[in-house]
Amino acid sequence: MQIIRMLRHVAVARGAVQAPSCWMSVLPVRCLGNSSSQIPENASFHSATSSEADPPRILITGGLGQLGVGLANLLRKRFGEENVILSDIKKPPNYVLRHGPFIYADVLDYKQLREIVVNHRITWLFHYSALLSAAGEANVPLAREVNITGLHHVLDIATEYHLRLFVPSTIAVFGPTSPRNPAPELCTQRPRTIYGVSKVHMELMGEYYYYRYGLDFRCLRYPGIISADSEPGGGTTDYAVHIFQEATRRGKFECNLKASTRLPMMYINDCLRATLEVMDAPAESLSMRTYNISAMSFTPEELAQEVRRHLPEFQITYHVDPMRQAIADSWPMNLDDSNARKDWGWRHDIDLPELVTKMLNFHGFDTRVAQTN
Ligand SMILES: NC(=O)c1ccc[n+]([C@@H]2O[C@H](COP(=O)([O-])OP(=O)(O)OC[C@H]3O[C@@H](n4cnc5c(N)ncnc54)[C@H](O)[C@@H]3O)[C@@H](O)[C@H]2O)c1
Repeated sequence: MQIIRMLRHVAVARGAVQAPSCWMSVLPVRCLGNSSSQIPENASFHSATSSEADPPRILITGGLGQLGVGLANLLRKRFGEENVILSDIKKPPNYVLRHGPFIYADVLDYKQLREIVVNHRITWLFHYSALLSAAGEANVPLAREVNITGLHHVLDIATEYHLRLFVPSTIAVFGPTSPRNPAPELCTQRPRTIYGVSKVHMELMGEYYYYRYGLDFRCLRYPGIISADSEPGGGTTDYAVHIFQEATRRGKFECNLKASTRLPMMYINDCLRATLEVMDAPAESLSMRTYNISAMSFTPEELAQEVRRHLPEFQITYHVDPMRQAIADSWPMNLDDSNARKDWGWRHDIDLPELVTKMLNFHGFDTRVAQTN
């Protein structure tokens, strides 16, 4: 019971939990069947660390969304193509199949997920499956299933097989009563979307499993993520991706949020690098399980201004979607990410001007020509 004692000591020393009078060292019921047996003396709570000589074996769930393919590319560069398995319930396009292993995995199928972890000797799991804010409000029962039941499956399997587990969180965990400028890690969290509620649940469950079972759970609250070569999957910050496609194709864009709606945003490369960095960070450097990360914060009007520096004729109009606007109005304008910067050296590379240049270049617009004109 050495490790349990150690965990208890660490948790108590951090002041994060009170010394429990009834600390029970049992794994989740599902992991042990109906047995009430105790964790064996030699059980290991240390998830696999990464090194080039002994790389982790990685599974990404929900990997065919906006972020998963980029994450797989980054991880494959570092750990080798065969060590990173992308999975989803969607049919993969050919280019995905050309770049490494892909497998069908439904996070609602507990047994199948368990089999994948065992058969592929998975040691790190990036759990990306989710219904995002707007998609979740459009189908609350499905969002509840995928975001909550799916998470429970992942938590139990990760605990049983001593995986290192990353689950992304979001600015949607904040609500109208949270501090908005900036939002710290620890504050009132009363979100008004099923997405936000499910992600608060995820943060708390992950932290609980860490203290209770020693699960190596790590989590970052992503701002709205802006990517060039992948489509967003139904979030409130999607406008900041679509604006570039429309600006280069049609010279104009109709925005579904008000001109003055300020939200935190980040370029995808910074987001994925942060994800790998926090997974790689030595356990002793992490003072918390869920960190804010931040890069820039802008309104649709400020983004349009920056686009106009390259495309002076660009026009933006506003046709506000009340559902998305209400969601955006309940979210913070900025995140305080000083803990991530202090604990594991997080820093972003891309600010608004570089972001706009990169996005316009990707969509075929030569920004060098525009700037010299
Ligand atoms: N994109 C952002 O701006 C952003 C911001 C904050 C947090 N996040 C988080 O990052 C993660 C990835 O986001 P994304 O933008 O790539 O999402 P996305 O909506 O683009 O992709 C989610 C993927 O989950 C898959 N999925 C749905 N149901 C599933 C099931 N039952 N089993 C397995 N897969 C299933 C979908 O097919 C989809 O490919 C999510 O957890 C999201 O909450 C994203």
